[in-house]
Amino acid sequence: TGKVTLDTGFVNTASCRSEITYIDGDAGILRYRGYPIEQLAEGSTFLEVSYLLIYGELPTATQLEEFTGRVQRHTMLHEDLKRFFDGFPRNAHPMPQLSSAVSALSTFYQDSLDPFDNEQVEISTVRLLAKLPTIAAYSYKKNIGQPFLYPDNSQSLVENFLRMTFGLPAEPYEADPLMVKALDQLFILHADHEQNCSTSTVRLVGSAQANLFASVSAGIHALSGPLHGGANSAVLEMLTTIRDSDETVESFMEKVKKKTPGVRLMGFGHRVYKNYDPRAAIIKKTADEMFEKAAGNELLDIAKELETIALADDYFVSRKLYPNVDFYTGLIYQAMGFPTEMFTVLFAIGRLPGWIAQWREMIADPSTKIGRPRQVYTGAAERDYVAMDAR
Ligand code: CMC
Repeated sequence: TGKVTLDTGFVNTASCRSEITYIDGDAGILRYRGYPIEQLAEGSTFLEVSYLLIYGELPTATQLEEFTGRVQRHTMLHEDLKRFFDGFPRNAHPMPQLSSAVSALSTFYQDSLDPFDNEQVEISTVRLLAKLPTIAAYSYKKNIGQPFLYPDNSQSLVENFLRMTFGLPAEPYEADPLMVKALDQLFILHADHEQNCSTSTVRLVGSAQANLFASVSAGIHALSGPLHGGANSAVLEMLTTIRDSDETVESFMEKVKKKTPGVRLMGFGHRVYKNYDPRAAIIKKTADEMFEKAAGNELLDIAKELETIALADDYFVSRKLYPNVDFYTGLIYQAMGFPTEMFTVLFAIGRLPGWIAQWREMIADPSTKIGRPRQVYTGAAERDYVAMDAR
């Protein structure tokens, strides 16, 4: 079986060939299907980017209209699936609610689970894209004890999501167009990031030929971790703790640099970006624009202070640690009215087209094998079993 190489955390090991997303971590470049992230964030929309990631090319107007129409027709949840939310405790975190509901989709749509049937994969793709925002909104309504709103399919994906999240049955809700635009752009920025932890999870589960819903549900759990998507809420918790305690920005940074267990500068550092994170650059601009009008935001001030100190400090400079996508998103989500627990859910909605595209690419690739890493065994050498009365 040959020699096994140890690569903890897959720092140097490619797990697949992929045509979807290109990253140059030293130059701070991110492209989806060849298109620079800056151009997509400026000119495209989330559903168009979803199409691009999944099908490989930008859609024509007719293709986009047809795709949008299909997604809009599938936004409703089966009433039985809706009742799943009754079973969760009221304070259930929305991420496991999201993952459980996505997992349950494979019990409702048993007619479309075959990974090798194109039509079934198509319908699962559309169902997932359409239903995840509804599931996300319901997980929030569950937490705050408000009634669930049915989707309104005359609205765009983002408008509909905001209405189901913040709207009430008896009151008309009209989403602020600036907020719709900003959230759509944030979803674009999160839409894919090649073989990150959650995407690799989706691929690994899918490599056993598990269905799309099961694979994506596993990816949502991976995303929930604080070192991955969970970092966006962890950043806000960190900023709030600094604001509300005796801690100063300086004393917090000293703890980080001393590597106090459990204390990291959340929202900083990246496995691949060693210069800057191009997504963070775009998001920082959005944050600045958003808070320019509003009166001073104390948490933003703390974030800026942390960033300024870090960028001038040898600990961070020598380790090439820069703000990542999560450093400023939490502040924007908070300003939009989302509670901290929902931040990673928003990341999941954004990342979904990437997970789907990567899963489909893997299934369609004839060279795919089941993901099965090797190990370096460090346990006991052979020894004889000792009967209980002799121990
Ligand atoms: N604060 C303080 N020190 C850090 C940080 C940080 N945020 N990130 C890395 N380091 C140090 C780390 O202690 C290590 O130091 P040394 O070489 O002395 O042991 C060095 O930098 C390299 O770190 P690493 O943990 O080996 O790097 P990694 O590539 O395994 O981890 C990371 C990448 C993103 C998990 C890590 O930088 C981190 O934990 N950051 C904070 C959490 C975060 O913001 N995550 C979001 C990532 S971007 C979006 C996403 O994936 O969801």
